[in-house]
Amino acid sequence: MPREFCIGAGWKMNKTIAETETYLHELVTTSLPPDVMIFVAPPFTALAAAKRAIGDAPVHLAAQNMHWADAGAYTGEISPAMLLDCGVEIVELGHSERRAHQAETDVTINAKVHAAIAHRLRPLVCVGEHEYELKAGASVETVSRQVKLAFAGLDPEQLGGAIVAYEPIWAIGETGQVAPPAHVSAVLGALREMLDARGLPWIPVLYGGSVGPDNAPDLIAIPAVDGLFVGRAAWSAEGFAKVIEAGVAGRLVRPSSGNETQPKPSSGLRNASRI
Ligand code: PGA
Repeated sequence: MPREFCIGAGWKMNKTIAETETYLHELVTTSLPPDVMIFVAPPFTALAAAKRAIGDAPVHLAAQNMHWADAGAYTGEISPAMLLDCGVEIVELGHSERRAHQAETDVTINAKVHAAIAHRLRPLVCVGEHEYELKAGASVETVSRQVKLAFAGLDPEQLGGAIVAYEPIWAIGETGQVAPPAHVSAVLGALREMLDARGLPWIPVLYGGSVGPDNAPDLIAIPAVDGLFVGRAAWSAEGFAKVIEAGVAGRLVRPSSGNETQPKPSSGLRNASRI
């Protein structure tokens, strides 16, 4: 089953509106590969400006979080409708930094996935194990559980636009650790099998955690890797363009895994025709 090939940049808590405009003007003037779904996830305050800066360029807009309710007494929160208002298509849910610092749980993440789908936003569910889980040999078990709980109560036909990102917590940021390709291959291979067995063969599974232009080709060479989700290395447009270039080069030489062509998400998601 063909799957989308995706490369995204998670900006975390970085960039003002002016910095967002500078970054995106630079990114959209680089030559972007037509068969890769490229996305950026700016902070909430820069989403509307980001959408304007992207214009008609083939870059998709993601938000870094969202509340599950349509509206109400949730001070400081952002609703699905507010994201749609800014031109957002994808919403990142369950990043490990939010699980660690903002009390995100598998239950709230599941509520947000339901809300995203109800509003035709594409949920990008982030999963990953702690170092103690890695050391206990529980990586596959941990992330499989997180994916199952994120998608609980949803039928395959509702998950047409979903994306999963595997981001081992011990390899994110300045930990000094990088996930070895054999580990990434084992975990993503297991996630792929699980998703296929649940009737979700179109869901792309990305890898994230200390990705840069140097290791992107090796990561992309892993057949179960359907793309990359990049943090620090993509905080400049030039850096992101380099990762995209390296990822595309790596994809050209990898053994065929059946995910080289564009998919058609099965649910009628907003802007799905552009994806
Ligand atoms: P990093 O972040 O690339 O800076 O390790 C990855 C992420 O948190 O998505």
